Amino acid sequence: MPELKASRARQSKPMTRAVQDYTASISYDKRLAEYDIEGSIAHAEMLGRQRIILATAANKIVAGLKQILKEMESGKFKFRSELEDIHLNIESRLGEIIGNDAGMLHTARSRNDQVALDVRMYCKDAVAEISAGITELHKVFVGQAEANITTYMPGFTHTQHAQPVLLAHHLLAYCQMLERDHQRLQQCLERIDVMPLGSGALAGLPYKLDREYVANRLGFSRVSQNSMDAVSDRDFIVELQAVCAILMMHLSRISEELVLWSSDEFGFVSLDDSYTTGSSIMPQKRNPDVAELARGRTGRVYGNLMAILTTLKGLPLSYNRDLQEDKEALFETVDILTSTLEVMAGMLESTTFNKKRMLEMSGRGYILATDVADHLTAKGMPFRQAHEIAGRLVAYATGKRKELSELTLAEYRQLSKSFESDVLKISIKSSIESRQTVGGTAPNQVMSQIKAAKQFQMRASAK
Ligand code: ARG
Repeated sequence: MPELKASRARQSKPMTRAVQDYTASISYDKRLAEYDIEGSIAHAEMLGRQRIILATAANKIVAGLKQILKEMESGKFKFRSELEDIHLNIESRLGEIIGNDAGMLHTARSRNDQVALDVRMYCKDAVAEISAGITELHKVFVGQAEANITTYMPGFTHTQHAQPVLLAHHLLAYCQMLERDHQRLQQCLERIDVMPLGSGALAGLPYKLDREYVANRLGFSRVSQNSMDAVSDRDFIVELQAVCAILMMHLSRISEELVLWSSDEFGFVSLDDSYTTGSSIMPQKRNPDVAELARGRTGRVYGNLMAILTTLKGLPLSYNRDLQEDKEALFETVDILTSTLEVMAGMLESTTFNKKRMLEMSGRGYILATDVADHLTAKGMPFRQAHEIAGRLVAYATGKRKELSELTLAEYRQLSKSFESDVLKISIKSSIESRQTVGGTAPNQVMSQIKAAKQFQMRASAK
């Protein structure tokens, strides 16, 4: 079999070394090797079944491909950059193993539909892997929420003390985000899950293919319905990257809180030593580098989304070589997501929450002022007026350098005769227990959230 060098029969000259390097993708698309082989096996089997090639040839091809897979797994396979990409690397090795029959594999196929298939297969696995990572992290959040169902903390708005909440409630907020991320992934999977092989270079193929067979064999739900679309759009990559960017944004917010909360100023958490680093100059340091890197890598994930959107925006139909640029950024994003989910789960699981400190801070900063206003509202006062009186009360207490809990009923009643003695019973506990709306921080509401979160896990792991 003639040496397979990206079909250059038409060219009168070889590529220069620089051009070869410029156009080659093997350094990164070798990650598609297993998908490429699996896809080729299904294609060859189908060609044999449809009598497009001889069954004996099909069998030889399949056996050769399986051998190549073994060579890959044992690290023996030699990737060659002069063979441009993963498709040609594999086909060329197949030629070495089985001889001339290898040339029949590319019957009724183009690298254009072949690469679209490989990337879709990769994306399907990526969705499964990231989804599993989300479920694991979600589990850690639920575990910490259950362990902290009686831990009080100040809830924040504007990074200022706002109203007391259960730590469990705060943690479960992230469960909601992660559940939506999981759902978004499953929804984008529906559009990834389309089998493009059989589109050829762009126009379809003049053979009696059994596309359904190939789709079934490779675990796809549907076959693509327009060959030009199938070889040239990568909107499924945009979508996956967008979903990853949203997920990464959530992971970055968690990271930011861990960074803040582990500072001396907050003192809410102590990160496990295995997740902090020291400083080369300051011996006392326990830096939250893992959380910082997660926050930092978010920039790359966002950048990768912009990259694919920009690559696609000016492309005329159908395949253009620009599309080769879809892979590296995609791989990087998926790698960042899977590794971040993993370390985040470990970090959070090993984090110690400083309950005493959180409780102490829950009582500070007139955090119960809203409850005082709600007290007046319960006595029949319009909320706006109640809000104003509570505000004046805070100003009064601030002047006296007192917390609200240190004021007497007489002092309350100086500001409004509507205050009654039960205002003195307002506490962090009463504040939290009173927030009984669905989704509120009252303990029984938080318990329902935990129950729902566990149901999510059952559904997610059943998939
Ligand atoms: N390496 C190419 C890519 O990633 C494979 C398809 C090449 N097709 C072509 N007509 N040159 O897109």
